[in-house]
Amino acid sequence: MTNNLELLSSHVTHFIFFVFMASTVFHLKQRLNTIPPPWEVEAQYQRRTQSLTSSPPKGIWTVNVQGRLGNQMGEYATLYALAKMNGRRAYIPTQLHNTLAPIFKITLPVLHDAVVSKIPWKNYLLNDWMEERYRHIPGEYVRLTGYPCSWTFYHHLREEILQEFTLHDHVRQEAQTYLQTLQVNGSRPKTFVGVHVRRGDYVQLMPNVWKGVVAGRQYLQRALDWFRARYSSLIFVVTSNGMAWCQENIDASRGDVVFAGNGIEGSPAKDFALLTQCNHTIMTIGTFGIWAAYLAGGEVIYLANYTLPDSPFLRIFKPEATFLPEWMGIEADLSPLLKQ
Ligand SMILES: *[C@@H]1O[C@H](CO)[C@@H](O)[C@H](O)[C@H]1NC(C)=O
Ligand SMILES: *[C@@H]1O[C@H](CO)[C@@H](O)[C@H](O)[C@H]1NC(C)=O
Ligand SMILES: *[C@@H]1O[C@H](CO)[C@@H](O)[C@H](O)[C@H]1NC(C)=O
Repeated sequence: MTNNLELLSSHVTHFIFFVFMASTVFHLKQRLNTIPPPWEVEAQYQRRTQSLTSSPPKGIWTVNVQGRLGNQMGEYATLYALAKMNGRRAYIPTQLHNTLAPIFKITLPVLHDAVVSKIPWKNYLLNDWMEERYRHIPGEYVRLTGYPCSWTFYHHLREEILQEFTLHDHVRQEAQTYLQTLQVNGSRPKTFVGVHVRRGDYVQLMPNVWKGVVAGRQYLQRALDWFRARYSSLIFVVTSNGMAWCQENIDASRGDVVFAGNGIEGSPAKDFALLTQCNHTIMTIGTFGIWAAYLAGGEVIYLANYTLPDSPFLRIFKPEATFLPEWMGIEADLSPLLKQ
């Protein structure tokens, strides 16, 4: 009996205690509800807006930043395309933003360095060509690595990529103003052909590391003549990081060649804008020229087969994933390599 009473009394106490607690919590909640803290307002807003859209992409994907402008454009476009394909949200590191944002109207959000260092990234190494397995890359915090640049990653989104790499108005205008001043034999040309001659470090790297060559005098002569045969009123706008070599090796005697770029690799906006505002492109090697050609969008001549068949370069490079099928290749002259 006493036992039962004690049990009953203990039940009642518990019950009263429970009611008291519940009502306190309830009233506390009521009071808090009248003045919601800012983070709760934000969270409520997020919940409301998210429920309107279908399930939002989870996680954070980014890309490792290596190389200069052309490489970084490749990294940006590849991240953009692969994140979309995998239903993930893409963010760019500040370094990528610092290179691209002064030139282009890019839209991907930036990750602050302080955030980057706190995220447990899973690095994912890419070849420079699209593969089936890249459609299903696992992980919520993925950092793409390698030197991706191939059109095979992003060409299905060409319009979006061109939108991302739209020049800022002042950059475009500066190039246009310059092009409008050009004359050939006293009249304004109708067709502009951008010529990018990559030299600099590649002049040594190609033969010494990659068993290859850079573009020579003959290649450029043939490329220029191809356009001369096709268009009657044209001008070649040459940019290069080796302009002295260009002035010695490109025949400008007809007055249809202008050595225009400043070749400053640290601030490539001017040269790049000039090339993209031209109608057609003659490129040599390197991702800078590839991107200029891709954005200019006209006819493109490129240097083909510029390494020996046993070059280690061919393990990381696929011509068919680098040059669009409609671009025209002119074979490189490999004889300087065979003489060595
Ligand atoms: C410009 O004029 C010179 C002299 O008449 C001529 O040799 C040259 O072929 C002309 N250039 C072009 C692109 O027509
Ligand atoms: C060729 O390029 C010039 C300079 O950007 C431009 O004014 C002209 O409209 C272009 N021509 C064609 C046919 O697109
Ligand atoms: C490059 O070499 C390959 C293999 O020999 C050949 O099929 C291709 O036609 C060459 N490219 C050009 C542009 O000549």
